[in-house]
Amino acid sequence: MAKISEHVINDVIQRTDLVDLISEKVALSKKGKSYFGLCPFHSEKTPSFSVEPDKKIYTCFSCGEKGNAITFKQKTENLSFVDAVEILADRANIQIDFTEFKQENPNQKYFDINDDAKGFYKLLLSNTVSGQNAIEYLTQRGITKEIIDYFELGLAPNEYELLYKTLTEKGYLVSDMVDLGLVKQGTNNFYDLFRERIIFPIQDERNRSVAFSGRVYKTEDTNAKYINSPQTVVFTKSNILYNLNKALNEIKKTKRIVLFEGYMDVIAAHRANIHDAVASMGTSLTKEQVRLMKRYTDDVTICYDGDSAGIEATSRALTLLQAEGIKVKIVLLPDGLDPDDYINKFSSESLQKFINEQWVSSIRFLYIKNKNDIDFTKMLDIEKFKKRVFDLIKNESRTTIEVFMKDISKDINISLESLRQDFQQYTRKNISTKISRTQSQVKVLSKFEKAEMMLINYFLSDVKYLNEFRVNADENIFLSREVWEMRILIEDLYDHNESIDEFETKLSESQLHFYHNSIKSKLVELSDNEFHDLLDTMQLYKELQKSKDSDALIEKALTIEDKIALAKERDKIIKEAKHGKR
Ligand code: CTP
Ligand code: MN
Repeated sequence: MAKISEHVINDVIQRTDLVDLISEKVALSKKGKSYFGLCPFHSEKTPSFSVEPDKKIYTCFSCGEKGNAITFKQKTENLSFVDAVEILADRANIQIDFTEFKQENPNQKYFDINDDAKGFYKLLLSNTVSGQNAIEYLTQRGITKEIIDYFELGLAPNEYELLYKTLTEKGYLVSDMVDLGLVKQGTNNFYDLFRERIIFPIQDERNRSVAFSGRVYKTEDTNAKYINSPQTVVFTKSNILYNLNKALNEIKKTKRIVLFEGYMDVIAAHRANIHDAVASMGTSLTKEQVRLMKRYTDDVTICYDGDSAGIEATSRALTLLQAEGIKVKIVLLPDGLDPDDYINKFSSESLQKFINEQWVSSIRFLYIKNKNDIDFTKMLDIEKFKKRVFDLIKNESRTTIEVFMKDISKDINISLESLRQDFQQYTRKNISTKISRTQSQVKVLSKFEKAEMMLINYFLSDVKYLNEFRVNADENIFLSREVWEMRILIEDLYDHNESIDEFETKLSESQLHFYHNSIKSKLVELSDNEFHDLLDTMQLYKELQKSKDSDALIEKALTIEDKIALAKERDKIIKEAKHGKR
């Protein structure tokens, strides 16, 4: 294999505008003779990457990467030396035929087989009776001839050996077909993997055919919706993004990638005139896929299905993308729709508008996601939500904090004023929890006081406990009138659908104190058993108060703990009676 001459290499380097080339990927600003920007080879917040157009070189003072136009192209796009030189030569209008320099890739035979298989499937879609049925199915789903051609869709017929025989006739080795998973080996025969399926050919970012996926198209077909090529020498699912090869040109223009879950989503996007679309093919996004995207842009819009699985997947993808320093926008399709459903329900124009304009920031997404499992009729849920959001926004700008304050206020129906106070308290508490934990004097509560407090927590957390109490329990089991009254106020809260704000305004000062210290700050795990134990405990207390013979009651108590609690309470009652408190 011939080598490219030094002369050509120098020519390419000299005739490439290095600042122009690097600016495609890095925002550069001029300082003196040099240009500076954030290094694309490592993650950094202050620019240490410099480009010197005179010398035709770039250097990163932080990570040490340096090189010229060719190495830059190679490294940022994962190209071979010859490929990089060829692309740059073309860019600089240098006319050279590079074929003689190109090394035969050891995997080339696999790409060739896949290419031929792709041609075979395409041909069968447009030239057979079953192809007609498949096209009908596609048409029904809004997929036109133009789209079929663009995505090179094909058909695997309902035949066991047609691909195997066709490829054999072309002179390929069956062992290579088996390596690619296109043909499987039975006990005494070979047969095609894909049968009676619409075929989606999958290419890598360098346009090489690496794999296929096949979708059933007959309504009565109960087989798996999709089957995919297995992992092969040329296909590692976690390293490939569907449609990246076709999207690259558009990505250069939009400087953005829209990330979808599946093939049909990318096709829906195409129908909506969105051509910078790729798909992670159903499985969770991987680090490799994120790095692959990062070679071309650091701006990714996630558009997964709008159902709860899609939201979970979005959340995982978001974490991964942000960890690699990518700016993320999120498109939340309404009502659990996927892009295809969305087009069918509305229109392709409105999908385009939705994706380009209706995206939300990552922080807004997390706010919405955090809201999802919150039951706004439950006090403790509301508290949980508030804390989650406070945590989410605490390091954001004042404006962001203010915007979210307004949203929380609306969502949980609490005045902005008290919310601001809560937030201040929360941030202060966060700083000082350590100190206050050791310093604050904790009032020791009796077993009955604890039970009473917990009961109120249960009532506020779930109306079912309040209802059970109303039906089955003695309503006079509370230690104090104040708590007894509070229980009534909680009934009002539920019965009249009041807001927490309204509820709080009705509390007396000491109730408010009790509420803030013992209720609002506590997160309880609800358990029916515990609830019933609490009722029993309070019942025991009630009996103590009624009982003329407290010693006999203590005697009767089942556990040592109850005996001690009762005895303590008895002494307290006696003491208070002496001072005329009760
Ligand atoms: N997928 C897969 N195998 C399956 C199901 C799904 O590989 N059995 C992958 C495919 O890449 C698919 C993606 O997961 O495109 C998303 O799945 P889904 O939303 O179910 O498929 P769609 O692409 O939306 O296809 P359709 O609209 O036809 O259901
Ligand atoms: Mn889908």
